[in-house]
Amino acid sequence: KTLDSLKDVAGKTALVRVDFNVPVDGGKITDDTRLRVALPTIQKLTSKGMKVALLAHFDRPKGKVVPEMSLAFVAPALSNLLEAPVSFSDDCVGDATKALITNMADGGVILLENVRFHAGEEKNDPEFAAQLAAMGDIYVNDAFSAAHRAHASTEGVAHLIPAYAGESMRRELEALDAALGTPVRPVIGIVGGSKVSTKLDLLKNLVTRLDTLSIGGGMANTFLYALGYDIGGSLCEKDMADTAREIMKLADENHCEILLPVDVVVAQEFKAHAPSRELSIDDALTPDDKIFDAGAKTVDILTDAISKSKTLIWNGPLGVFELPPFDKATVAAAHFAAAQTKAKLLTAVAGGGDTVAALNHAGVVDDMTFVSTAGGAFLEWMEGKELPGVSALNG
Ligand code: 3PG
Repeated sequence: KTLDSLKDVAGKTALVRVDFNVPVDGGKITDDTRLRVALPTIQKLTSKGMKVALLAHFDRPKGKVVPEMSLAFVAPALSNLLEAPVSFSDDCVGDATKALITNMADGGVILLENVRFHAGEEKNDPEFAAQLAAMGDIYVNDAFSAAHRAHASTEGVAHLIPAYAGESMRRELEALDAALGTPVRPVIGIVGGSKVSTKLDLLKNLVTRLDTLSIGGGMANTFLYALGYDIGGSLCEKDMADTAREIMKLADENHCEILLPVDVVVAQEFKAHAPSRELSIDDALTPDDKIFDAGAKTVDILTDAISKSKTLIWNGPLGVFELPPFDKATVAAAHFAAAQTKAKLLTAVAGGGDTVAALNHAGVVDDMTFVSTAGGAFLEWMEGKELPGVSALNG
């Protein structure tokens, strides 16, 4: 159920689960994207005359009150973005919180204290879920990025009062469906990052669903090693070679073409502007050579494959993009994908951890069709897992 189905709700309270687990440095929010994506839901509900009580977690206080993990600092930042007052309750349940909510004017917004201060949250304790449910007339989940957690505020409470998907949740689910659920084919994936072992389930799921999968970053070394190539002193999980071969076999059986680097950029020192060489993967590497990026021919092959695709799903950089010039392949592929998307030739969806940082580095975050705010939830969804927070909304 989406928010459009809400009728005659003026004066009622929406308990809205948001993800305000924002990056902070020295008490300052360094990226307020997660606050911004919550605005449409808050505005939609307040414009219907509803009171909005925002429920969120911050960091991992493990069921205890940890003052440094209070969400109080978020209320003024949110108020600025919303251009409306946002009050704060120093608990998220109980009579005092309920009174603060009840005494707000219609259309008022209140942020509730870190839900993870209560041990019942992560245990998905039914009693705690009932205490949360008592705070609102309806429940709205707008936190896709926390939907992989089966906690009281993301799962349990959804069964106790009428539950709805918020605007950001709806947009995430629509974009993800367009990328992997019912994509316009051909569909290509780019998966990078350092380790095969952390993305095993993801790779296994993707090769059964994509037409082409480009593997980059450190994990490509493990695949090259499994195929017998010399990778010098590069990062490699040698014990995953059999698994890499299994994934390639599975891809073959499912008619998914795997693209691995055909040339690489190697250097001997892990630092920006370290002296580097570009080699074919057929060349011999010295034991000190480490692969830090894909080469120009690999980028050509990848961009050609993107140009033949209608949908792209991207998780993980192709090289050590934090250290120039080892950002070249990632930046080139990102620019190409952005241009195709702008020309309406491609639907491009990206997400998960480093990916957003890499696309930001390339300056193309706004040119993608959709960039997920989620880290772990995006990965679990790419693995084909059911997300408890999403399933709970479906009944
Ligand atoms: C995130 O930041 O990815 C979500 O808020 C989930 O946080 P968690 O990993 O602490 O559950």
